[in-house]
Amino acid sequence: MTKSIGILTAGGDSPGLNAAIRAVGKAAMNNYGMRVIGFRQGFRGLMQNRTIVLDASALSGILTIGGTILGTSRDKPHKMPVGDQIMDMTDAMVETYNLHHLDALVCLGGGGTAKNAYRLMEKGLNILTLPKTIDNDVFGTDVTFGYDTALTIAAEAIDRLHSTAHSHHRIIVVEIMGHNTGWLALGAGIAGGADAILIPEIPYDVEIVAEAILHRSRAGKPFSIVAVSEGALSKEAANKRGQLEKQIVEAKNKKEKKKAKAALAEFEANEMESTSKLTVKLEELTGLESRVTILGHVQRGGTPSPADRLLATRLGTACAQYINDGVFGVMVAACGDGTQAVPLEQVVGKRKTVPLNHPWINTARALHVCMGDD
Ligand code: F6P
Repeated sequence: MTKSIGILTAGGDSPGLNAAIRAVGKAAMNNYGMRVIGFRQGFRGLMQNRTIVLDASALSGILTIGGTILGTSRDKPHKMPVGDQIMDMTDAMVETYNLHHLDALVCLGGGGTAKNAYRLMEKGLNILTLPKTIDNDVFGTDVTFGYDTALTIAAEAIDRLHSTAHSHHRIIVVEIMGHNTGWLALGAGIAGGADAILIPEIPYDVEIVAEAILHRSRAGKPFSIVAVSEGALSKEAANKRGQLEKQIVEAKNKKEKKKAKAALAEFEANEMESTSKLTVKLEELTGLESRVTILGHVQRGGTPSPADRLLATRLGTACAQYINDGVFGVMVAACGDGTQAVPLEQVVGKRKTVPLNHPWINTARALHVCMGDD
């Protein structure tokens, strides 16, 4: 009997999503004779039964296109905004799955998507996920697709900032995405030759960064590039954050928990300005004119790199094979040159941060790049 599969993309978009959709779809159709449909705008489209037929013509010509032809959203099955209410719509999604007599649902996304997909798995659906995000922070996979493209964009931006920083004898602080992990800032910072790299895993001391910049200046280099991850925190802010998180864990009742969560949200909102504040402080401490560049969503847009197309394609084709073999409840992870079906239980609720003894950190330190801590 013909098998039917559904595909959705959820969370922030990422270069390589279309390559993955194409790979899953083509391999499923051509090798196993499966029927493939897509759901629009992530879990919302699954809830609303908004579909798109992914036949040969729909999958043609999308390999090199950025974004996702299916659209995406950050909506969660159990906390779905419906009208002016937030509702658990998991059962509606199960209904759509059954309506289409699906044999499997493939969810392309990061850590949050894995968590949401796991909820559907607990309702009995045959789920597989593919790890995408520019942040490279999904636990259980060597790498995520989207990362290489964003890394290239951020490194190129640093290259460009170098010449203008040099011409004006300025400090340029460049903010790089990555959520609460430093993979992007660290990778792009090393590849782009940044003089200081600040990542969430290593809380920084602004005076140490300023001293490193002054040291360069005294050595005849009166300009510096500081690559800072959007989630990087000063030592004081990291302490404060730790305390707020502890208050959430130790809250004795719902009311206390809500209050503690609100305090953390307020802290995070204030921290959104932290790169600009850091830039002002560095100018004050060094006497060097300073500017800030926030790369933002430009890092997520445009054509996926060949490495991301390759990764998304090999994960996608492996996914179709896992479906045919009846392997469900897994993330199709990159493992060396191959793939591995990692049970979703081992993935959800975890995040892959940069280990403090990671070779890239040692590499940066070996080049005397200031990491903000010594
Ligand atoms: O997870 C990818 C990512 O780009 C993060 O690096 C960033 O923190 C976040 O998404 C931005 O989300 P949004 O596009 O919803 O503003």
